Amino acid sequence: MAEAFKVDAKDYDGPVLVTGAGGCIGSWALKLLTDAGVPAVAFDLTEDKSRPNLLLSPEALDTVTWRTGDIGDTETVAAVVRDEGIRAIVHLAALQVPFCIADPVAGAKVNVVGTVNVMEAARHAGLKRVAYASSVGIHGMGPEEHFLATLYGAYKLCDEMIAKVYLQDWKVPSVGIRPGVVYGVGRDQGMTSKTTVAILAAAAGKPYTVPFCGAVPYVHAGEAAAAFLKAVSKERDDAPVFDLNGIPSTVEAKLAIIEGLVPDAKVTCTGSPLPFPADLSDDPIRSYLGDYGTVSLEDGVKETLARFRALLADGKVSADGIA
Ligand SMILES: NC(=O)c1ccc[n+]([C@@H]2O[C@H](COP(=O)([O-])OP(=O)(O)OC[C@H]3O[C@@H](n4cnc5c(N)ncnc54)[C@H](O)[C@@H]3O)[C@@H](O)[C@H]2O)c1
Repeated sequence: MAEAFKVDAKDYDGPVLVTGAGGCIGSWALKLLTDAGVPAVAFDLTEDKSRPNLLLSPEALDTVTWRTGDIGDTETVAAVVRDEGIRAIVHLAALQVPFCIADPVAGAKVNVVGTVNVMEAARHAGLKRVAYASSVGIHGMGPEEHFLATLYGAYKLCDEMIAKVYLQDWKVPSVGIRPGVVYGVGRDQGMTSKTTVAILAAAAGKPYTVPFCGAVPYVHAGEAAAAFLKAVSKERDDAPVFDLNGIPSTVEAKLAIIEGLVPDAKVTCTGSPLPFPADLSDDPIRSYLGDYGTVSLEDGVKETLARFRALLADGKVSADGIA
């Protein structure tokens, strides 16, 4: 599947820092960078490489420089950028919706102060290749919006404003990307991870009910990682922000694909649709970035299922917690 999201080493002029590299999109970013032979520096809270381990061979993971620290710590982030000779930053470290609800102050430190720290480090290093993760969740924040407002969305909207001011005041360019619902191997936490859990359940022969039905903007995790990497594949001079909707579909359609592949699967859904838009256009991001690859929902589900089957057989993932 990674072949669908080619990264060209010629487009990078030195090490790429991936913050939140131990997460889902971060693991795919490491996979694409190491496949292409681009030097990758991972930054995360801990040495936990369990998600990258699902995608990268031990040899490939050994080539990644792994730095631990808190994205909320200004000097730590600056030191990583300085010491590792970083030329581009893909900033993904964040706390997702449930974690921001559980601890709003921690959410602000990671999701807002963390982004300021990345911008500061880029400013002092003179970097012109910075991409950061906003979210479809910002669509609940405007006065006219009828989608759900969350602290997570508020923090991400704040990040977009911060990026604009860093361009205006200090000429730090950036590209903000707002993914929809990311799915694929490695997607195991956050409120929208449950349609990926349904694929894992089917692979493990377990019944599973997704706790929401209806429209979903499905972005394969590899496609999301490819878009972030494309955003830092050359120097920028502006600070645009783009929706990354992926494929407009539904929970029901994805469950039907799973059932087509696993006829005895017992996967269902219940509840209301997610409180986010699911049919935003990817034309603006594709026309700005150029081609970063794509995958159909059918192929994405098929590959994820096959990979989960292999990982279950190897004991690298467990379906024990799936009820
Ligand atoms: N997954 C989605 O559907 C989705 C949708 C929209 C936006 N996003 C955004 O994309 C980014 C990546 O998402 P993901 O699904 O890979 O998330 P994830 O939760 O899988 O990974 C986030 C990573 O950030 C790390 N992190 C948390 N606090 C940290 C700290 N204080 N210092 C350093 N690292 C820290 C975590 O350890 C984790 O490895 C996030 O910014 C997220 O908000 C994701």
